[in-house]
Amino acid sequence: MRRVKVTVVGAGNVGGSIAQRLAEKNWYDVVLVDIVEGMPQGKALDLLEAGPVCSYDSLVTGTNHYEETKDSDIVVITSGIPRRPGMSRDELLETNTRIVSSVVRETAHRSPQAIFILVSNPLDAMTFVAHKVSGFPKHRVLGMAGVLDSARFRAFIAEALQISVENIHAMVLGGHGDSMVPLIRYTTVAGRPLHEWLSPEKLDALIKRTREGGAEIVNLLKTGSAYYAPAASVVEMVEAITKDQKKILPCAALCEGEYGYHNLFLGVPVKLGVGGAEAIIEYALTDQEKSALDASAKAVKDLCAQVEDMLKKAS
Ligand code: NAI
Ligand code: 2OP
Repeated sequence: MRRVKVTVVGAGNVGGSIAQRLAEKNWYDVVLVDIVEGMPQGKALDLLEAGPVCSYDSLVTGTNHYEETKDSDIVVITSGIPRRPGMSRDELLETNTRIVSSVVRETAHRSPQAIFILVSNPLDAMTFVAHKVSGFPKHRVLGMAGVLDSARFRAFIAEALQISVENIHAMVLGGHGDSMVPLIRYTTVAGRPLHEWLSPEKLDALIKRTREGGAEIVNLLKTGSAYYAPAASVVEMVEAITKDQKKILPCAALCEGEYGYHNLFLGVPVKLGVGGAEAIIEYALTDQEKSALDASAKAVKDLCAQVEDMLKKAS
């Protein structure tokens, strides 16, 4: 049986967890790539040996080279440095631009039909890097952040209301940073708008906690950032694409006129299917929601301008 082939570059906390979740689906063969010698090979072997216990036959290959990534259906990029306490995601810009560009150069020509899913931070800017360096069409370059930010928001709402997460639908749009935009009007609990369930003060507290959700975990872990929920979020995107589910999820995608933005990767609702980002769904926004999204878009735009300078200098 030919399984869907997924390359995961960066076999650290997020990459290793993605590989595990994908292998357990018994539908994906995974190639795990890292620069650290022996580490991806060790994790891959460990995952292969879990197969008999967890009933999967997925192939998991670990490598420090790119030959094995050839003809991947999906390439997930998690390589780079994570932040430490007190650091913002934006402080990773220079190092991760260098790492992500080199990884995209290595993978794009070996898997010319692949769909890229970026994870490395700062997320929206790294998605821009991947699009620029690969030259791939916009529907095949996506970033994961909105699924994670929305999952955090849903988890906090569920905890506050003592209601199942399955009853909660939420969309967090914008860049993956402090200015992300949880869309309250479009957040529902069992079909009822969120504002009917919680006081404005409680809502504000949950929005703040969502925006700072990444930092909350960095401060607890002290040596790195979140990885279980990020990995689960990537896998939801991989499944939506490879199983052609046509699921609408918030992802970083290239806006060319949508929401009034041009040539900008930003977290927006995207319909995911075999074609990748098959459509960007536009929600009607109030003036207040639009100006919050504009502020987030501006932050991303500024980072992308810096990235553009770096890429020019490097070429
Ligand atoms: P980690 O440090 O555990 O793993 C990163 C891995 O990348 C390391 O194993 C490192 O050796 C590898 N690496 C570095 N340069 C490389 C290169 N040139 N080629 C191949 N591999 C290379 O970090 P973690 O926790 O897995 O996070 C990875 C990235 O994902 C970070 O930038 C982090 O900020 C970001 N992140 C983004 C999230 C999102 O929502 N978009 C959520 C969680 C993490
Ligand atoms: C997070 O939000 C580090 O961006 C990552 O957890």
